[in-house]
Amino acid sequence: MHAISALISQFQLIAHPEGGYYRETYRSQGTIAATCLDAAYSGERNFSTGIYFLLTSDTFSAFHRILQDEAWHFYAGSAILLHMIDPSGHYSAVTIGNRFDQGEVPQFVVPGGTWFASHVIQPDAYALLGCTVSPGFDFRDFDLTPRHELLKRFPQHAEIITQLTRV
Ligand code: GUN
Repeated sequence: MHAISALISQFQLIAHPEGGYYRETYRSQGTIAATCLDAAYSGERNFSTGIYFLLTSDTFSAFHRILQDEAWHFYAGSAILLHMIDPSGHYSAVTIGNRFDQGEVPQFVVPGGTWFASHVIQPDAYALLGCTVSPGFDFRDFDLTPRHELLKRFPQHAEIITQLTRV
């Protein structure tokens, strides 16, 4: 689809390890010392970061988790279904989009430590979103958990885990 390559080029998006494309748009100058953060953080972090995130129908964002709460914002295209499994094994899902009369929401916050994955609902479509975290994003806080580990931990969610993991 021409619209997708136009967005990738206009916003200089690059492939994300979880699937989809992204570009960091904001990284605060200020940093938080490791001593002021939860022990799970391995060092200092920026106050906050933001990215553009583009998902297309021919791929998906695979199950992963980060330490931070992550705020998602819908900008353009068609809705995504975001699947979540919290550490206790509770599954939930939300549709992020701009058809508010259909129950879609333009903003949603995924709690830190929750595994999440997403995909565009319609075929031949895309969704352009934003993701903001605080403390700022660092790949050291990013856990792209392998399928076999998720299946062992959450066997009751085998179907969605198998559908939305690659390795
Ligand atoms: N920077 C690189 N990847 C990500 C991500 O998945 N989320 C956020 N918020 N920032 C990122």
